[in-house]
This record gives sequence, structure tokens and C-alpha cells, in this order.
Amino acid sequence: MTQPVWLSERVQWIGAFDPGMRSFDIILKTPNGTTYNAYAVRGSEGVAVIDTVKAECADQFFARLETVARYDEISVIVLNHLEPDHTGALPELMRRAPQAKLYISQSAQLMLKALLNRQDIDYTSVGTGDKVSLGDRTLRFLHTPYLHWPDTQCTYLEEECILFSGDVFGCHFCDERLFNDKVGDFRFAFEYYYSHIMRPFREHVINALELVQPLPINIIAPTHGPILRDQPTRYMQRYRELSGQRLQNEVNADEKTLIIFYISAYGSTTKMAHMIREGAEQVPGVRVSLYDMEGGDADLFVDLVEDADGIMIGSPTINGDAVKPVWDLVSSFAKINVRGKLAGAFGSYGWTGEAVRMLEDRLRGLKMRVPLEGVRIKLIPSTDELEQCRRYGQEAGEHLTGVNAPRILEMADLLAARQQTTTELNAT
Ligand code: FEO
Repeated sequence: MTQPVWLSERVQWIGAFDPGMRSFDIILKTPNGTTYNAYAVRGSEGVAVIDTVKAECADQFFARLETVARYDEISVIVLNHLEPDHTGALPELMRRAPQAKLYISQSAQLMLKALLNRQDIDYTSVGTGDKVSLGDRTLRFLHTPYLHWPDTQCTYLEEECILFSGDVFGCHFCDERLFNDKVGDFRFAFEYYYSHIMRPFREHVINALELVQPLPINIIAPTHGPILRDQPTRYMQRYRELSGQRLQNEVNADEKTLIIFYISAYGSTTKMAHMIREGAEQVPGVRVSLYDMEGGDADLFVDLVEDADGIMIGSPTINGDAVKPVWDLVSSFAKINVRGKLAGAFGSYGWTGEAVRMLEDRLRGLKMRVPLEGVRIKLIPSTDELEQCRRYGQEAGEHLTGVNAPRILEMADLLAARQQTTTELNAT
């Protein structure tokens, strides 16, 4: 049950199966569980342990480790990533093998101290090209940050062309047959993992591929899911495709793209959205798209958001809140990088009208740029109020194209706007 699995004569999988896991990091669905993959590499002058497992699975890890090495043989511990699902067993491993030297990436040092809650830790920080020798086996490090934490790195076993990749090329898929040419169909899990974990960092994925793709690779050994020994470079190529460009958007290189999402209970927010579009389209160099969220869902829209330069969201206020499809859309932004995109919110309301301010706060929280105060209109927009929407769209377009210099909103302005909202609330 707790036997190791041989990748080669000198390399064993000593990880753990967690078939009962049903959601990971709260947001990821794991319909058949996951694995925490750790590895032992035996050289003529010592044994390296590469990554560990979640604390709750430590018994499996130590049982497998003890079948392949004595603790006093372990000379090296490599941590490719410090998230607790891979470092849960680390403190106990360090206690059992106190002579082992710890190797982490340059970006992992503060995290390591926080993780172990100690300052007096003996470790070596490494970067691309650094090596550690096990005698007749050599580990080479590759700095691959933000996949998906700042600390992440890959480790390459030179003599056997095995890439210990951390979370990259992994997936949540528990199958005790373990190798990609033996397990069930895990393609969905592989792509689902990419889209939820790696996609927000796709520029870093591309940088990492530049480092690892030129290497001769016999096996990719990730920290979750199947070990990729059959045509491993296909999985690199798939990452290349997933992180690359989609069908070319038919906009000119000098155009900026603005997407207006809206949803409307009685048509007022719809009218606002159309007027905002009209205003934005008056600005040369702005290409506007308009989407009614009632006709799609967040997963459909997230690709559009990723490519757009600006996003505006219209929502009515119902029971003091923006409506669920709007929050679903905003939640989906966590899958991509929206930092620095222009953003705004607008909406009609019947009574209190909190949705616009709540959305603006959330968009700012995502580090989007919200240079204009959103438009809130009570019930049905008048002619003057529609003109206000048109101007709002025009100003947004000007901010996108740089015609309108970015304005720093003064804290006093924000407080005054909040005060106005509070006064209105008290009056209703
Ligand atoms: Fe599998 Fe990012 O930990």
C-alpha cells in the first residue's frame, strides 16, 4: 500500500494519494482527489528528497521514504514550492534528517521563515544554473517564479533528464497507476488546472517554457497528478498553446478595446449601457463591445476580459447589492491578470443604489484602474441623465486612449462621494 514507485533505478516517487479530496484551495473542484508527489533521488554520495507532502498525508510519505533510504543518508532536501501541500511534512523531515541541506529558490527565503516560524534556519538559496551534486547524480535548478507563487522553481536531474517541475504540468487527478501512460483520461484535469492555477501568470509560464523546453526531457515529474513519462514534451507544447494567443482579435494595433457588460431588471441599466457605448465610440481609436450578462456566463466572458484594455460593468441594485451574474463575472477575474486595466461601474436603482460603489471598490481591490466615478441613476434615466452616461463613456474612452490624462482621485473626493451616498440612504 505504501510502496514507492520507481521512475528509474535511482529515482522513486515517495508521495501520497489523497483520493477523498473534493475541493482544493476552496475554488478548485477535484472530482477524483489528488496526489502530492514527492521524490527521492539516490546518488553515489547521498540521497536527495525533492518536495514533501501535505501534513495530513505525512505518514504515507515517511513510510515510502523509509523503504528507499535511511534518514542519515539524506544529504539534500529540495523545495520547489513552499505551499503547505508540499511542505507539510518538512518540519518532521528536518527533525529526522538534521544533517540534510535545504535548497530553496531565492524568492522563497521569507516564506520559509514564516512557514517554519523560525529565523535560525540553515538553507541555501539557488537560482538558474546553480547545481548540487549527489556524486554521480546532479540536480540543476531553474528559476521559474510565479508558477503559481513567487517562490516556485524547477529542478532538473541532469543524468536522467527528469524535470521535477513543482505545480507546473501538474493536475489534481488521483490514480494509483500514477504514470500518464497507465492512468485514466486526465486531459480535463490537466487543462482545468492550467486555467485555474497557471493562467493568471501566463507571461511567467512562457518565460518558464523558454527555460525548460530546450532541455532534453525523458520524464516530467510534477507535484500533483500523473507523472509524465510518455511523450512529456507534448504537455509542454500544450502549455505553450494554452498560454499563447487565441484567434487574432480584429482590432488594429493602435486601437483600444472597451467591453461593457450589463444586466438589467427593467431596461434602465440597458439604456445606460447603450449610451455609455455611444459616448466611448465617439473617441477615435476605441473599439467597444457590449454584452448582456443575461445571455452568457462568466466562463464565456473571461477570455474577452483578458484581452480587453477596459471593462465597464452595469448592474441594478437589488436588496442592497449588485446581482449574482455580476459578482460571478468579477470573481472570474481571479483566473486572469486584470491589474492595470481600466474599469468602471454604473447602474440604475430603485431605492438605495449601493451596487455601483460596491463594484468600484471590488475593481479597485483587484488593482484595476478606476479613474472615473461611476454613474448611478434612480429608476428611469432622464434625457439629462442619459447625456451624463454618454459623457461618462466618452471620458472612459479618452482615458483609454490617453487623450484624458489619468486623474488621481483625491481622498477628499472619495469621502465626499461616500457622504453623498450615505445621505441619500438616510433619506430613503
Ligand atoms: Fe500544489 Fe501550489 O501547491
